[in-house]
Amino acid sequence: MEYDIIEKVSDLAASDLPLDSKLAEAAGILLEYFPFDQCLLYLEEEGALKLRAEANGKAFAVKVYAMGEGLPWHACETGAPVEAFKAPEAASWEGIEDNGLFGAGHALAVPLKGSGRVYGVIYFKSAERKPLSLPKRRMCRIAALQVVSLLRCAQLSSDHRRVYDELLQMQQKLVDSEKLLALGDMAATLAHEIRNPLLSIGAYAARLRRQLPPDSPGLKYLEQMSADIGRIERIMNGIIRFLKDNAVELKTEDLDSIADESLAIFSDEFLAHNIRVERLGAGQKLPVLADREQMKIAFDNLIANAIQSMENGGTLFVSTAFLGGFAVARLSDTGGGIDPRYLGYIFNPFFTTKKHGTGLGLPIASSIVMRHKGQLEAGNEGPGAVFTIKIPYAGARETASITPAS
Ligand SMILES: Nc1ncnc2c1ncn2[C@@H]1O[C@H](COP(=O)(O)OP(=O)(O)O)[C@@H](O)[C@H]1O
Ligand SMILES: [Mg+2]
Repeated sequence: MEYDIIEKVSDLAASDLPLDSKLAEAAGILLEYFPFDQCLLYLEEEGALKLRAEANGKAFAVKVYAMGEGLPWHACETGAPVEAFKAPEAASWEGIEDNGLFGAGHALAVPLKGSGRVYGVIYFKSAERKPLSLPKRRMCRIAALQVVSLLRCAQLSSDHRRVYDELLQMQQKLVDSEKLLALGDMAATLAHEIRNPLLSIGAYAARLRRQLPPDSPGLKYLEQMSADIGRIERIMNGIIRFLKDNAVELKTEDLDSIADESLAIFSDEFLAHNIRVERLGAGQKLPVLADREQMKIAFDNLIANAIQSMENGGTLFVSTAFLGGFAVARLSDTGGGIDPRYLGYIFNPFFTTKKHGTGLGLPIASSIVMRHKGQLEAGNEGPGAVFTIKIPYAGARETASITPAS
């Protein structure tokens, strides 16, 4: 009977209930065993003791004890159970101010301690003074240990859940990259099947256009046909480039200068669209093992997208830095950003929100970065989109200085 309480609390610790339900039940179990009117469980959070569960919640309870306040903190500081008796109207007991003692005549605060830290306090209160037998007095420490192990179990299971969620996310990424490869194979077959007949359709359309008189009503249909054929050809060329680029030749290259070279190619376009470029360099070389031409293609695709998102002007911020063992390039624009509904799709081949888009820029950029053992991440920030390329740093660590990426 005496040890029932231990069994009940440890059963509770092993149950699937959420932590708050476990604590509420634990408070109930404690109140059944100890001769008080009310049992409150306070947990330490950000330097304060916060009320997390109560049995007989009808009686008054302080919700938060700031650091050092009241009998519960006194018990934490003492490191042992503290019992208090007082006249119901008095506000303090032996000099300890505790608003929670109003209306109470008997109180017991038991610290929840374990592995050198205080997790919180069990706080019992009664209007009347009730005698506490010696075994119960001893048992309150054991009960506190049981509650501590309940809390630690909950912590472990939430850590376990977090690791599990991370694993699931990684698995999803793997599935996505496999999908990308499968789509690549499919695209290769399609490209071969479509490209040849397409070339001959294009040639016939051009021949017909030459043969028709300039005032022929059919001419505008032919022009539309040629424009559409041109669009399909662009898509096909993109696919072929995507597939041809499979092999990378890795040499030590400087990511900082790759970014500069890529930006330089677009200087006329920046001017034409009234786009200001803000460049924050790494202030040092950023050696990476890279295929320079391919890496430039990845940058080109990101810069082209940024320009397209800011047709009527804006700012493109490009920063390069050494960060946490990686050479990092960050491109952010002020073009309105990516619709959050589409964030999960933009790396899929052929996904586009543009009238004349191919939907191949980002999958190409991402597969190039992946072949460099890096990551390409997309998101929104402020008034636009932000893309981050992370490639393992290939220089000597001790010469690298740490510079923020933005
Ligand atoms: N800088 C950007 N700002 C806003 N949206 C972007 C940006 N870059 C890419 N996107 C979104 O991702 C889609 C896919 O981009 P991409 O693969 O380059 O294909 P495309 O440019 O041909 O549409 C775009 O259609 C657009 O919706
Ligand atoms: Mg694009």
